[in-house]
Amino acid sequence: MTLAFARTGEADEDLAPRLEIARQKQDPLADDALAEILESKATGRLFDRLVACRKQPACKALWEQVHSVPSWADKSVCQAGNTMAFSNVVTSGLALMCGSLAESFVAANGAKVLTRTGRLLSDGQRRVYETADFTTAIAECNGPWPGTHAHRDVVSVRLIHAMARRNVVDGWDDSWGRPVNQEDMLGTLMMFSHVYRRSLEALGVDLSPDEHLGVNQTWRFTGFMLGVDEDLLPTSVDHEAQLYAAVSKRQFTPDADSRALTHALFDAMANVPPFFLPAVALHEAGRLCLGDEIADELDLKRHPRWERTIAALVRANRTRAAVARHVPEGARTRVGRLMASSILATSLDERGKF
Ligand code: HEM
Repeated sequence: MTLAFARTGEADEDLAPRLEIARQKQDPLADDALAEILESKATGRLFDRLVACRKQPACKALWEQVHSVPSWADKSVCQAGNTMAFSNVVTSGLALMCGSLAESFVAANGAKVLTRTGRLLSDGQRRVYETADFTTAIAECNGPWPGTHAHRDVVSVRLIHAMARRNVVDGWDDSWGRPVNQEDMLGTLMMFSHVYRRSLEALGVDLSPDEHLGVNQTWRFTGFMLGVDEDLLPTSVDHEAQLYAAVSKRQFTPDADSRALTHALFDAMANVPPFFLPAVALHEAGRLCLGDEIADELDLKRHPRWERTIAALVRANRTRAAVARHVPEGARTRVGRLMASSILATSLDERGKF
């Protein structure tokens, strides 16, 4: 399956008015619950404070919504995508970093939140490992099923987003849309599915149709729990491609902040586990994942020697990924989980950081 690069796919023109409305809508369930939490005496991590306040009206409404599993959520469909992710742990990390995270900065208006909170600029390495920990938890649990650690992480991030909305109000320009709005949440969600899958293929991992669908449905379910309106969520791989084309055509106009975030990300992750690649090599990997047009707009450098080296690594990776398919799924998942947890254990000092 060939997945389109940003702004190139076929967008359904009828989507534009819905996305325009979505730019003005945030996540009232989480925003109201956070207001209640902050007025209460509850202490500790945001999720624990939500639990403590769950009898109060706004927290109760959020609590009930994140415990209502939609009828379309199906663990057995999600599984193929997550087994694939554990079969390709290091490539998944590279695809998420050089593809998904970097491309999320291209949506310049949405990314204004990130330049304002500043965490990616000042503490990029830890922020990347935390995002990797978050995606690993989701893959381990085949989605954020209530009662799992993935559910706890996803609900916590939903409250972190509500906190970010409050923190960036000063100096916010309404022409950017509302901070962390529904369109930006949808766009970012697709970074973890459409852009992740496209980047994996660019890095030498060919996905089966079931694996594409498994990733798509895992993130559809994650989006539901993260507060993306259910009627905006991508229902299938093809639907996601159309939504991605529409959002990327509307929002992908990178600016100086987009470039600053991308370069801060690659500098923070240069020469550290699990890639141990210099920044120039990450730029070349980024060019493969994002395509030359977006890579040029982000000012990703060309480096002929690293271009050849990355091309050779992609060829070797294609062979490795094909050979790995002959290993039984259970063994691949166990090895992948072990690799992911040991990479994260050496890079993050504790789990459950939200
Ligand atoms: C719906 C898809 C999204 C996913 C899966 C997602 C994922 C995450 C994760 C895992 C974290 C925690 C990282 C940490 O511990 O610092 C986080 C934090 C954060 N996210 Fe999101 N996010 C999404 C959408 C967005 C959007 C649209 C924005 C707006 C730009 C945003 C802004 C933030 C901010 C400001 C933080 C706090 C950390 C920081 O300041 O960088 N997120 N998100």
